[in-house]
Amino acid sequence: MRESSVMSRRGFLAGAALFAGALAGCDANNNPSGAENDQQAGNSQPTTSSSGTSSVTSANGNVLVAYYSAQGHTEAVAQVIADELGTDLFEIMPAEPYSDDDLNWTDDSSRVTREHEDESLRDVELTQVTPDGWDGYDTVLVGYPIWWGIAAWPVNNFITGNDWDGKTVIPFCTSASSGLGQSGDLLAEAAGSGDWQEGRRFSQNADEDEVRSWAAGLS
Ligand SMILES: Cc1cc2nc3c(=O)[nH]c(=O)nc-3n(C[C@H](O)[C@H](O)[C@H](O)COP(=O)(O)O)c2cc1C
Repeated sequence: MRESSVMSRRGFLAGAALFAGALAGCDANNNPSGAENDQQAGNSQPTTSSSGTSSVTSANGNVLVAYYSAQGHTEAVAQVIADELGTDLFEIMPAEPYSDDDLNWTDDSSRVTREHEDESLRDVELTQVTPDGWDGYDTVLVGYPIWWGIAAWPVNNFITGNDWDGKTVIPFCTSASSGLGQSGDLLAEAAGSGDWQEGRRFSQNADEDEVRSWAAGLS
């Protein structure tokens, strides 16, 4: 165990066991309309495969899987990827976690709706911005949920607060229906450096084998 927000591989078996249950916990009623999603994501279909262009090289080098997850779906995917690759796992954690009420996008006054409508409110403080041993990682996979067609903004300060120079970066996301859209490109732009690869979108109900297969294809 490295730090409170970095899980060791010992946690992965439990994570994998939770995978099906977590992903089965679909919250389809808690998603913005498909029309809005599609418009903002610029992509009405989930992305297919990008493993042909992304790769984790040098016998996995030093690889980190970093993720933000509000409702557990991205966490389950991240745990499987880290398990498959045998890497460290870092959870991006808001200092003030999002409650179910906070995430209620159907409520005009909920936290997430207010943040969506006012970009200045998206400066989400994190419990830890830079993972321990950051300089030693050659490749970082960055996972997040899609919110209104873009990367959930709690990941933003993780991106802007770290130095990506010399790192290969592979984004991945989970969503109800939207594709990766511009989310990876926007994060790459915000990062300002790093070799950002084409990412991969998984359904919030992604099959574990599908995730393992993609991860295995990176190595
Ligand atoms: C505030 C909010 C906005 C969302 N926006 C979208 C969206 O635009 N498109 C989509 O397909 N799913 C959307 N979803 C669904 C999530 O992307 C999906 O459930 C994801 O797997 C959640 O990941 P998590 O459990 O790791 O937080 C949204 C969910 C929430 C809470």
